Amino acid sequence: MQKRIFSGIQPSGVLHLGNYLGAIKNWVALQEKYDPIFCVVDLHAITVPQKPEELRQKTLEVAKTYLAAGIDPEKSLIFVQSHVPEHAELAWILNTITKIPELERMTQFKDKSKAFRQNLNAGLFNYPVLMAADILLYDANLVPVGEDQLQHVEIARTLARRFNSLFGETFVVPEPFVVKEGMRIMGLDDPKKKMSKSAASEYNYISLTDTPEKIREKIKKAVTDSGKEIRYSADKPAIKNLINIYALLDNAKPKEIVESYHGKGYAEFKKDLAEVVVGFLEPFQEKYNEIEDREVLRILEEGKSKAKKMAGEKMEKVREKVGLL
Ligand code: AMP
Ligand code: TRP
Repeated sequence: MQKRIFSGIQPSGVLHLGNYLGAIKNWVALQEKYDPIFCVVDLHAITVPQKPEELRQKTLEVAKTYLAAGIDPEKSLIFVQSHVPEHAELAWILNTITKIPELERMTQFKDKSKAFRQNLNAGLFNYPVLMAADILLYDANLVPVGEDQLQHVEIARTLARRFNSLFGETFVVPEPFVVKEGMRIMGLDDPKKKMSKSAASEYNYISLTDTPEKIREKIKKAVTDSGKEIRYSADKPAIKNLINIYALLDNAKPKEIVESYHGKGYAEFKKDLAEVVVGFLEPFQEKYNEIEDREVLRILEEGKSKAKKMAGEKMEKVREKVGLL
């Protein structure tokens, strides 16, 4: 039997090159070898305030991004988390076997609770439990994520094992699946922090919807390191990050990029990099714009009924094990 993979992205903020290189690009490759499920996790998105109309729009946009990037609905199951109420139901049950200190340790919670001190809601705290429910409902073997999500996958593993030992074999214990390159694309304005949709400045990221002019401007402005040479080294984090982006989009090795820029300077390198990014994003955007909302809705509807069936069967077992009448 093929191994099942499960992953998801929140419909909040803009999708950027870090999301594509760190997540979606790998999913497209993985869908060939595995049995893949890709979810738009709207219930996770509302752990920080969202405007209802925007949330609806973003949910559609994320699904459309999956499709435009090459996730094939014939091979992959694509659906919206809130369309399958079993996610919330399982999350509730898992909450009852999750220890508060386990959630207090989560780096993402600690970071977000600093940023949203005014609105520290229980959803933000229980976020990893909902993520565990997403994964465990479908017996996923592998969870392809960026480095920042490893701690959350670890909680999912703990909860699967704990449930199994309390109530008997029920869940597959999932493994994280990290792809080394692109694991962490850094901010263009600050190579010490990851490229992020919540960054203060738009010069931190390249949005998947940026125009060619904007992309060229952003790459031109990207910070560089001292020195002149194109070198791939930890003490040159800015240039290293740009080389990573170049290599991933060009399907080359960083070493090959470095060799082809031997004796050349930052300006020339950046100019070419901008064209590589434009060369990727232009056709991507064309595809994106060709996909009609109606078509996305149809695919999500189909995904919903398949996912509901799988989740429904699993939840019946869970309810029985727990002793719900
Ligand atoms: P998020 O934007 O936090 O919802 O993340 C969606 C997916 O993109 C997750 O798998 C993240 O690990 C991945 N991701 C987000 N930002 C980056 C980044 N700067 N570099 C690599 N992967 C990222
Ligand atoms: N928490 C993940 C993120 O912010 C998104 C997510 C939700 C997810 N549920 C998931 C990822 C299940 C993998 C599997 O990126």
